[in-house]
Amino acid sequence: MDGVDIELTADGSHTLFIPALDEHYHSTNGAIQESKHVYIETGLHYCRKSYVTIFEIGFGTGLNAYLTLEDTINTDKKIQYLSIEANPLPCKVVEKLNYPNQLNAVDADLFVKLHEAAWNKTVKITQDFSLTKIEADLTQFDFNFIPGIDLVYFDAFAPDKQPEMWSQEIFDYLYSLMNDDAILVTYCAKGEVRRRMQHSGFMVERLPGPPGKREMLRAIKQSGNAQ
Ligand SMILES: C[S@@+](CC[C@H](N)C(=O)[O-])C[C@H]1O[C@@H](n2cnc3c(N)ncnc32)[C@H](O)[C@@H]1O
Repeated sequence: MDGVDIELTADGSHTLFIPALDEHYHSTNGAIQESKHVYIETGLHYCRKSYVTIFEIGFGTGLNAYLTLEDTINTDKKIQYLSIEANPLPCKVVEKLNYPNQLNAVDADLFVKLHEAAWNKTVKITQDFSLTKIEADLTQFDFNFIPGIDLVYFDAFAPDKQPEMWSQEIFDYLYSLMNDDAILVTYCAKGEVRRRMQHSGFMVERLPGPPGKREMLRAIKQSGNAQ
């Protein structure tokens, strides 16, 4: 994808800016800080299962996948990571991202491995982490998707930039693919998004957001809650 600028955020980690959309991939207050807070600490750490199927909306820089991998290495968690992306980033952008350095990663090659993994195939990144990158547009609903999701990382661009990603139809669809007690987390805390999630059947909590953001949302598909 052309027309992407690499920028430094307040915690020293990179993010991307799309001038045509006037939108960043992450918080300018700290990309790693935001992703860790929203997806790892409020999502992954809240999930008590040992085998976790994660569905990410927007693979982008691969930061959430990388943080998930780093967080679960040498633990008893086994991760099946599915991620959909409509516009994969070119290698020349990915190569410049400073996430392995910023995280003092023991194995920086794992970040490369996540990006080099073929699209639309399941690839074993480590013994306990498999990755399926799906190149598709979520709003088209035209990919074969298997139900059984335990955790959704909802990381689309903001609702005012991409309203079609935050529709009732999308939340209903995600709800139908998720297991009982599955969790959905997002950086967004907009009232209309929360109400759509509730309309789909989720129990939704407003929780403290990362630095620079007052709130975020965590939605749970409660067991026995027939839609
Ligand atoms: C806010 S960025 C976050 C990306 C990623 N999680 C990260 O940390 O870099 C949103 C991502 O959603 C992708 N995206 C936008 N529209 C999409 C669609 N209709 N279907 C699938 N992915 C989409 C964008 O290309 C972008 O990579």
